Order: sequence, then structure tokens, then C-alpha cells
Amino acid sequence: MPAAIVVGAQWGDEGKGKVVDVFSSEADYVVRYQGGANAGHTLKVEGRETILHLVPSGILHPKVSCLISSGVAMDVSALCDEIQALKKSGFLKYPHQLLLSDSATLLFDYHKQLDQAREQKAGHEKIGTTGKGIGPAYESRAERTALIFADLFESPEVLKNKLVRSSQEKFFLLENFYKQSPAPIEELLDKLLQLREILRPYRCQNTSLVIDQALKEGKKVLFEGAQGSLLDLVHGTYPYVTSSSTLAGGALTGAGLGPQNFNKILAIAKAYTTRVGFGSFPTECGETKEGQYLQKQGREFGATTGRKRRCGWLDLPALRYAIRLNGFTGLALMKLDVLSGLDEIKVCVSYKVGDKSVKEFPSLYSDLARACPEYKVFKGWTEDLSSLKKKEELPSQALEYVNFISQELNIPVDVISVGPSRKETIWINPIFS
Ligand code: IMP
Repeated sequence: MPAAIVVGAQWGDEGKGKVVDVFSSEADYVVRYQGGANAGHTLKVEGRETILHLVPSGILHPKVSCLISSGVAMDVSALCDEIQALKKSGFLKYPHQLLLSDSATLLFDYHKQLDQAREQKAGHEKIGTTGKGIGPAYESRAERTALIFADLFESPEVLKNKLVRSSQEKFFLLENFYKQSPAPIEELLDKLLQLREILRPYRCQNTSLVIDQALKEGKKVLFEGAQGSLLDLVHGTYPYVTSSSTLAGGALTGAGLGPQNFNKILAIAKAYTTRVGFGSFPTECGETKEGQYLQKQGREFGATTGRKRRCGWLDLPALRYAIRLNGFTGLALMKLDVLSGLDEIKVCVSYKVGDKSVKEFPSLYSDLARACPEYKVFKGWTEDLSSLKKKEELPSQALEYVNFISQELNIPVDVISVGPSRKETIWINPIFS
């Protein structure tokens, strides 16, 4: 049962792409199971940066098959761009490297247009979405009018009818409520008839079956989460969340497999916290000296939108919550190197909500919004960590910091990342045991 899953434990951008890229060298399959091109995974390999949005981060390893499974909102146009960029860079040489599920939800330009129009109209009440159409595409799926990947290969007449049926309410909204002009369906149809030829070689039909067979044959399958636990549609900081299930459980429904399959559920968390978009963030440092330091040292800009990420201290109540939601078996602590050079490092150990001190993440968003962090303060360190290979080589203050987090959260630290490249990683426990 060698299945492992990598899930963001914060508000996304934790560094899942790097972990998946590195662990992919041991995997046979890497599976994306939710979200869409709202994700942005930055990989740094041999000095070259590759940013992936839809294609799983295992794609840089030629022997790995990467699956986009049924739970993903597949932006056809973005996926084609990504495929062509990967090919141009010498990756994705063979069709077996990328397998696309026939039942993934298709996302079109009008979904993006609606997402952006809503945000614009919402003014200061907006969510701060990536504008990639994720909410509207999953709405289409829930309305049962969405097109799925298999529909793309229908005859032009059938495809057009499906497009008309799927788009009519959204077009009505766009035109009459948001006063926008979506491109005519005929234009979309023409574009799709071209794009489907780029995608045809990767059509796999039943990715759930492929995964099942792989697991039965003892192959190593790695599931790659997108976004983060606190952005989960149901359990995240609603309404400031994304529109998919970002938790480990989302892999079961998104990829189509049962819960008995996982033996490793790895939490990915930065050694501090970031968030993009709106919504409460109790440990946010804002424009303070420390906030600016984290933003600059961590190069905290969104890989999808280029937006500056909001930065703050590590939040243990939030991580404790994510551990509960996902059943994490271990922690990958990312970007520890970014903290080098700070005089003091704070960790939020509990919140003050009203007159109560609480260690658990509030279940009500209104309580989170008024929560004041209570901190434990650690002495900083100045050493460059990037060449370290063993946990014991960390400066004593950094080791104290890491051990404190592990003890407070009652979770083993399996990986410590000390720089963006594959080499700059401290391995403590293997992902496939
Ligand atoms: P949406 O997923 O584009 O609808 O955006 C909803 C919320 O999730 C916004 O706050 C986004 O900034 C956030 N979000 C979506 N994808 C990511 C991601 O990959 N990393 C970090 N935040 C994300």
C-alpha cells in the first residue's frame, strides 16, 4: 500500500511543489486531485525555475506518470499552454508521462470572466480569488451542467450543444447582471476543436482505475494537494476559502479511491505563515520590520497572480487544527532558512478570544477575526542553513525552534527545507516506508 499524500497545512504556498518534486524521484505516479490553475508550484532544478499550475510537480522526472484526476477543475487553455511550455523546455517527451481523467471538470474563459466580474463588483467584500474561474467551474459541476474532459472529444455538434446548455445561465449573469460580453460560443468551440488535438494523446479515461491497479501492483503513488487546509471549502476560514476540498480526504473523492490506501499523510508548512487574498490572519506581521523581512527573504510573491503574500509568525493553533482535519503522520517544515538573521522569532501558541485563552482554532470565523495571538519568543540565529544535511547540524536556536514545534504539535518532523533547490533539504524520514 505505498501511497503517500502531501497536503498544505496553512493557507497554501507552503512549498508542496518542491516536496513533491523531490519525492517524485521515488514515485511511479503523481496525482493531482483537486483545485485547478489557481495553484502555482515553483520548482527550482539545476538553477532553472519551472512554474506549474495544473500539471503535477512530478513531471520533471521522466519515469513518473502524472495524473490529473477527476476532482480537478481543468482549464483546457491553461493546460495546453503548460504542456507546450514543458515540451519546449525538454520535459514531457512521452504521452505516458501525463494522464488526464475523462471525468475532470472543464473550465473555460467565461468561468474566469465571471469569477473576476464578481470580485470586481464585491468591492471591499471580495474574497481575493486568483481570478482563475475555480468557483464558477465547480458551481457548474454542482449544477450538473459542467462539461467533462470526455465531452471534448464529441462531435462538433454535440460539443456545441453541451457548451450552450452549460454556459447559458452564466452568460445570462455575465451579460445582464455584470454587463460583460462573453466571447460567442462558436468562438469557444473553434478554439476547443484545436486545443483538443494537443490534449488527445494524454487522454486516459479512467484515472481511478489506473491508480487502483498501480496500488495493487505495489507501485508508489504520490498524491499532490493544492492550496492549503485553511482554504478548504467546508473546514477552512469560510467564506475566505477556495471552492474545493483541499484536505487529505479530498484526495479520496477527487481521485476516486478508498481511505485504506494511505500510509503517509505529510503536512507541508512553512516555518512561518503566509496568506494571499483576504480573510483573517491572526499572526500577520503586516508592514512591520519583521513582516517586511519575511516577505523579502522568503520572496513571498504568488506564483499564479504575482501578488505580494501577507506574512506572519508560525501559528500553532492553526496547525493543530490542520493536523486534526487531515490526520497528518509527519511534518515537512519549509523555508526554515528564511528565518536566519532575525533577532527574535515568535510562535503563536494560543489565542486570546474575548477573555479566554484557547489552544484550538476557533470554529467560528467571527471568533478567529477577533482572536489575538499569544506568543512564545525564541532567540534568532544568524547562520546560513542552506548547506546543512542533518537536523543535528542546525544552530542550537534553530534546533530548539524545530523541536518545540514538533513537541507542541505532537508530530514528527520528516523533512526540513533550507533553500529552494532539491539539494537544500534535510531528510529525516522517508516518504515511502
Ligand atoms: P480561488 O481559489 O481562486 O477561488 O481563490 C480563493 C482563495 O484561495 C483566495 O484567497 C486565493 O488567494 C486563495 N488561493 C487559491 N489558490 C491558492 C494557492 O495556490 N495558494 C495560495 N492561495 C490560494
